[in-house]
Amino acid sequence: MLFAALVVWSPQVSLAAPPSQVEVAITLHADLSTSEHTISVVEKATSKVLASSCSNTLKGGSFAGNAIEVTFDDEANGNITIGSTTYKIHGDAEFSGGIVCNRIYNKKEVFITCDATMPGEVALEHKLNERASDCLKIAKRNNNGPNLADIAQGHADFNTSPMLARDVNITAIEKPKPLPRQMAACMGWGTEWGLIGDGNPHQNSFSKQLSSKMQCGNADSCTVGQSNSLSYTIGYSVTFNFGAFYSGGFSVSETWTTGNNYGCGGHAGETLCLWYNTGFTAYTAQRYTVNTWCNIRHFEGKGIFFSPNDGNKNGIDYYCVLGKDYCREQGAGYWIKEGRAGGP
Ligand SMILES: *[C@@H]1O[C@H](CO)[C@@H](O)[C@H](O)[C@H]1NC(C)=O
Ligand SMILES: *[C@@H]1O[C@H](CO)[C@@H](O)[C@H](O)[C@H]1NC(C)=O
Repeated sequence: MLFAALVVWSPQVSLAAPPSQVEVAITLHADLSTSEHTISVVEKATSKVLASSCSNTLKGGSFAGNAIEVTFDDEANGNITIGSTTYKIHGDAEFSGGIVCNRIYNKKEVFITCDATMPGEVALEHKLNERASDCLKIAKRNNNGPNLADIAQGHADFNTSPMLARDVNITAIEKPKPLPRQMAACMGWGTEWGLIGDGNPHQNSFSKQLSSKMQCGNADSCTVGQSNSLSYTIGYSVTFNFGAFYSGGFSVSETWTTGNNYGCGGHAGETLCLWYNTGFTAYTAQRYTVNTWCNIRHFEGKGIFFSPNDGNKNGIDYYCVLGKDYCREQGAGYWIKEGRAGGP
């Protein structure tokens, strides 16, 4: 009878008690040229920021007995200490000592995010913790396109849909309306391009995996670079079938070629891959068919162009990715849509 009573009561007990462990993502973002760091801990179930600070450590508040410290080098290798346990920063739990980390780095920045668990009190007491947000947007201050934290979101929520940007539905692509039949007799047709207003320009970017997905295996260290990678020609796209390219007067071109001359390093048990981020300008254009002989100005239609910026302005260029959750297949790609307004 005692056994039966315990079974009946246990659900109420578990509702009232704090969860013994919460799943969190611990993220470190560093600007290598200024040595600025940001660390944050987000509760996975609620997406709540439990704590953040402009450094590589979190302590105090409900982290008092569970301080976090991330030490790392320029290639995102290092250690993460949670309370009294130190893990190696690695994409495989067997190599790290129990947690899984994904990483992105290039010559300017390091981004490390680890999935871990922490004692439940840390989440319950999150109101007591420091939450610094002014250091979280390192590169955005320069208004120069995305930083590695911005593109990491795309690796996490990888979406292969052809959606080009906010508010654009590429499956609803329009075609020009034909001219009325009697006008076809007029000779000497021309076209007239223009922006609609200022074209409402915005900065977007597109990330593409240049290399195959490399498994380091048992080798002490391994690299992925030119010999495992392709150079891709990234073309413009447009939501209306004009059948031709129009720059709108912005410093953009029909195509940009990524190249593949970059190397990434990894260590035993790691998954790694090489990516490239291309900066784009989105702008809205319209076109008329004109005939001065017959005095006709026929509106063909309007559409949003997404065109690569000259010189890859506002694109990140090459970057290295470590971790099986962040590497995809060669040629995979996704858009980053939250860029600032304006031309390149
Ligand atoms: C990580 O820990 C290992 C083993 O203690 C040490 O050799 C290495 O230097 C540490 N790396 C960093 C970046 O702190
Ligand atoms: C895009 O347009 C197609 C065709 O009009 C429609 O079926 C689809 O639901 C639209 N998708 C989005 C995301 O709006």
